[in-house]
Amino acid sequence: MNKYFKGFLGIFSDDLGIDLGTSNTLICMKNKGVILNEPSVVTINTKTKDIFEVGGTAKKMIGKTPNALETIRPLKNGVIADYEITEKMLREFYKKVHSKKLFSSPRVIICVPAGVTQVEKRAVIEVTREAGAREAFLIEEPMAAAIGLGLDVFDPNGHMIVDIGGGTSEITVISLGGVVKASSFRVAGDRFDMAIVEYVRQKHNLLIGENTAEEIKQAVGAVIELEEEYSIEVSGRSILNGLPKNIVITSSELVSALGDLASLIIEEIRSILEKTLPELSSDIKRNGICLAGGGALVRGLDQKIEEALNLKVFIAEEPLYCVINGIQKLLQDFDKYSRVLVSSETEY
Ligand SMILES: Nc1ncnc2c1ncn2[C@@H]1O[C@H](COP(=O)(O)OP(=O)(O)OP(=O)(O)O)[C@@H](O)[C@H]1O
Ligand SMILES: [Mg+2]
Repeated sequence: MNKYFKGFLGIFSDDLGIDLGTSNTLICMKNKGVILNEPSVVTINTKTKDIFEVGGTAKKMIGKTPNALETIRPLKNGVIADYEITEKMLREFYKKVHSKKLFSSPRVIICVPAGVTQVEKRAVIEVTREAGAREAFLIEEPMAAAIGLGLDVFDPNGHMIVDIGGGTSEITVISLGGVVKASSFRVAGDRFDMAIVEYVRQKHNLLIGENTAEEIKQAVGAVIELEEEYSIEVSGRSILNGLPKNIVITSSELVSALGDLASLIIEEIRSILEKTLPELSSDIKRNGICLAGGGALVRGLDQKIEEALNLKVFIAEEPLYCVINGIQKLLQDFDKYSRVLVSSETEY
């Protein structure tokens, strides 16, 4: 076992795993599974910077706050953008899962995107400690996702995992318990939402907020023409007369805008494949590409990638839970998986 992580031997049952994502934060506990799943959103008092709400309640306030309050997403593109607010958010999340039975300062395994800088890794360790953890250990997201998927990560067998989250799409090749290639690409769920805001503004002369755009994406968003047409009625503010207005959006009208973003992701996957060692390439041809993260659920994305790259593509069973499920397995079988932990000094 890596000597750096010896201190973690004998995991206590109240140690926590955290998937700190741009869109969602999930927390698991060794013997209890996932105990928190909340949007990574905070509403603060604009003057005092005190927390007003966190998680799901804060997310509902996006675009609706009075001047005295501000809604913030403290992570951008998978990394901490606002250190102080991230710390406060985590502290509130710890409080939510804290029970009298728990130690007040748990040890924590927390994920970071593969290939982030040492500074960004240290920031995650420090923020986790400042928020109340006794010790913090890092795992790279795609490695956690692979373990969550049930892959044998220590095999000399290459797997490609494409984790499409809110802020970033992480395209990774893993083999022999490590990340061989990683690319973090800033086209993911949030960009799909922005494209919908823009489309609705241009084609329907209607202004909508980001939560409405996300609702449209999840209800009817598609990147290829579907056999079945979906539609949703939404409200916004008319650009023409400034008044509230309802419109109906269908899946087929979004294909062009969202399909263009899917093509950008496909080109990034292609460029990683082109740089992948031949032996690993043939493994990927055999194993296919696994899609994880909430963005994997955009309709037709798997099919579009499959057709463009002529490779099998499958969506993880629980795309939003792959990473936290992997961390949970690590907590449960630490001896087996501790080798995959990385220190803040690990660089590519
Ligand atoms: N059914 C769905 N259809 C389309 N998109 C979805 C669906 N469910 C969730 N999403 C999108 O998935 C994204 C969140 O995914 P996820 O929780 O994996 O991201 P994250 O881990 O917080 O972000 P990151 O990994 O970039 O830090 C959001 O953009 C959300 O809108
Ligand atoms: Mg994620």
